[in-house]
This record gives sequence, structure tokens and C-alpha cells, in this order.
Amino acid sequence: MIAAARKAARTLQRDFGEVENLQVSIKGPGDFVSAADLRAEAIIREELEKARPGYGFLMEESGETAGSDKTHRWIVDPLDGTTNFLHSIPMFAISIGLERTTATGPQMVAGVVYNPITDEMFVAEKGNGAFLNSRRLRVSARRDLSQAVVVTGIPHMGRPGQEPFLRELATVMDEVAGVRRSGSAALDMAYVAAGRYDAYWESGIKPWDIAAGVVLVREAGGFVSDMNGGEDFFKGSVIATNDPLQKPMGALLKKAHQPRA
Ligand code: IPD
Repeated sequence: MIAAARKAARTLQRDFGEVENLQVSIKGPGDFVSAADLRAEAIIREELEKARPGYGFLMEESGETAGSDKTHRWIVDPLDGTTNFLHSIPMFAISIGLERTTATGPQMVAGVVYNPITDEMFVAEKGNGAFLNSRRLRVSARRDLSQAVVVTGIPHMGRPGQEPFLRELATVMDEVAGVRRSGSAALDMAYVAAGRYDAYWESGIKPWDIAAGVVLVREAGGFVSDMNGGEDFFKGSVIATNDPLQKPMGALLKKAHQPRA
């Protein structure tokens, strides 16, 4: 997974340099970025197929491919933070997660999130901890919402959920030290694992945006759930927090949707 991420990162780095030049062109970098995305995805698929023939794939660009091994599936976003990339903002990542299905159902067992610009490689394997460039990661220890910096994703043009999001934001911003929007859900989760952000929440999210992050946060001692505290985060809503803020964040987001007196 690390090798696949590093290999795809080399083309993304080159393409990012080109995107910076394309900002001033009339056509803009749009098509070029779509091509960069596809190039990175093809490299990752090839590398992972070589390493583990038979595993299935769920990829942002090419969708679902069933493998001969029905118990393993790679969940991949070759370029998470596409809008940032398009605008030459160096905040994007390659995200590769591995899901294993056992008698108890599917669960994420390994994850890699790599930002090629900062050369930060976040890696986690179930039962073996989470690491940033070989340094062990722990979620933050902040206990009070009033000291917490939380990150989220904002639904943009054409995406549903703007009104509920604004309710959530209004409720959360009133209680915390700061709210951020980075533009890469994979990095948001990795940063929670690294104790930089204390919590992350988002609705309308896709499995490939958060699959690797789930293992990172859990292995760093944090919690990941859907908005109702369950395990259905691949259905579109996710909360990731450190240990002490799990309940308060959940309660706050619930409060956002209660009818006001
Ligand atoms: C997006 C980013 C962003 C999140 C969006 C995602 P993409 O993924 O992760 O942070 O808010 O919901 O779609 O499109 O850049 O791969």
C-alpha cells in the first residue's frame, strides 16, 4: 500500500507542478486534473493487483470491481482534495484502505493516507497502531469542547445537505475553539489520528474518502462512527474524535437537529 501510494505520488507531484502553470490559461486546469486523477488511480490499481492478485476494488474513478477473493477489497481515492489540487492548494492526499470480511462482517484493517507535497505518510494496521513517517500517533487528549479545534466538510454547489449542515455548524461553532475546512477528508481523519484536530464530522461523504482514515483514527485511540453513533459511516455520515470528545460531539450534532423552542 505504501509502495503504491509513493508511486502514484510521483505522477501527482509532476502534475501538481503543471496545474500551477495552467491556472492562468483560459481553458484552466480542469481536464488536466481529471486526467491526473485517472493516471494516479491506474498506477495504484496496477501496484495493488501485483501485490495481492484477486482482491476486489472500490475506487473513486472506476467504481467497484469484484475480485476472486471475496473477503478483501481495496477502497481507494487516488486524489482526495481534488478541488484543492485544481486550485494549486497543496492540501490533498492519496488514500488507500483495505477492508476484510469475516464471519462478523466487513471491517477496515489497514489504511494509508499520503500527502505527496508535505511527504507525510500516515499508516495504520488494525492491532498494530498508527504512524506518521514511523512516529507512533495518538489522538489528542483535549477533554473540553471549548478547547477543541474541529474540522468538517462543507457541501458545495450541486451537493445536497446545505441546510442541515448550516444548523450543525451554527451549533458546533458556538461551543468550540475553532472550526476548519481543509478540503481533504482523508487528511482530516489523518490529522485527528495525529492529534492535530480533536474531531471531524461530515455528511455526504463517500467510502473512499474515509476508508483509510477509519483505521488511522481507531489505531491512534480515537473513535469513528456514523452520525447516530453506529457503524454505518460508509452510508454517508461520519464523526471521528478523540476519546473524551466522542460523546459531547455526538450530543452536539444531535442537538443541531432538534426542533428549537
Ligand atoms: C472530497 C474531499 C472533501 C470533502 C468532500 C469530498 P474529493 O473528496 O474529501 O474534503 O468535503 O465531501 O468529496 O472529491 O476531493 O476526492
